[in-house]
Amino acid sequence: MDKSIVKKEEIINGLKKLGLKKGDMILVHSSLSSLGYVEGGADTVIDAFLEVVGKEGTVAVPNLPVIWYRESHADYLKRQPVFDVKVTPSKVGRITEVLRLREKARRSLHPSHSVAAIGKRRDWLIEGHEKCTGPCGEGTPCWKNCQANGRILLLGVSQNSNTTLHTVEEIGGAPVLTEDFFYPLVLDYKGKLITVPMHAHRDGQPRDFEKMDIICKKEKIMNVGQIGKATAMLIEARKLLEIGVKILKENPKFLFKNSP
Ligand SMILES: CC(C)(COP(=O)(O)OP(=O)(O)OC[C@H]1O[C@@H](n2cnc3c(N)ncnc32)[C@H](O)[C@@H]1OP(=O)(O)O)[C@@H](O)C(=O)NCCC(=O)NCCS
Repeated sequence: MDKSIVKKEEIINGLKKLGLKKGDMILVHSSLSSLGYVEGGADTVIDAFLEVVGKEGTVAVPNLPVIWYRESHADYLKRQPVFDVKVTPSKVGRITEVLRLREKARRSLHPSHSVAAIGKRRDWLIEGHEKCTGPCGEGTPCWKNCQANGRILLLGVSQNSNTTLHTVEEIGGAPVLTEDFFYPLVLDYKGKLITVPMHAHRDGQPRDFEKMDIICKKEKIMNVGQIGKATAMLIEARKLLEIGVKILKENPKFLFKNSP
């Protein structure tokens, strides 16, 4: 790891330069190590997000219990592990795990695509995820972030980590969900076990989400900058959804690898 030290002020300045401001909602996908050595670690990065969006803003992170290249979505759901909202660790980065453990954080009751958030619209953002039959479709936190004119921050990671592109697929009618239902279990904040009937993402179809980079730049919905050593991309979620869905209506397999 590079040992040049990145401090909170540098992260705050980088976020502001990207266009993040008070009152914003952001959904962050991140790699802590990509920044270089951060003084204070993940907590410093989270503090910087919260400071920039302020009391009126909301900071959200994915809180998935599995990283999907290690196990397929359907295989995970077939194992039917109990997702304990208070205990099950987030496997999609240190920043996501540290954020969910903060006292002010809450996490959606979703067995495979949980999202944790802090801030003004925390409860609105995460509520009802367990009632959605598609993990990233209508009613989910990723979809709500689009409705709320939120932003997506890719911090040291590429579009391949951009879960909102699954929202684009689900809303745009791409053939990505299993016909079968799965019935995973979730232990909620009160210790009650609930069943969450849902479709899984189908196996065996590699994606090429990076092709959205050119489109985001052409449509001027993404600002690109540097935070520490990391490349950071701030994307307008609603416009991404609108533009992506329009493309998929013409070509539902557009985001699949090797699709024109
Ligand atoms: C997988 C992934 C999280 C790995 O990124 P990473 O930077 O290697 O790991 P983390 O973000 O968990 O950060 C922990 C690492 O940061 C480094 N680190 C530790 N302290 C640090 C500090 N103070 N400053 C900077 N880096 C530090 C260490 O290398 C640590 O790894 P270790 O725990 O093995 O020692 C990242 O590549 C990724 O894909 N992120 C996006 C995930 C996502 O949102 N997916 C979407 C779901 S569909």
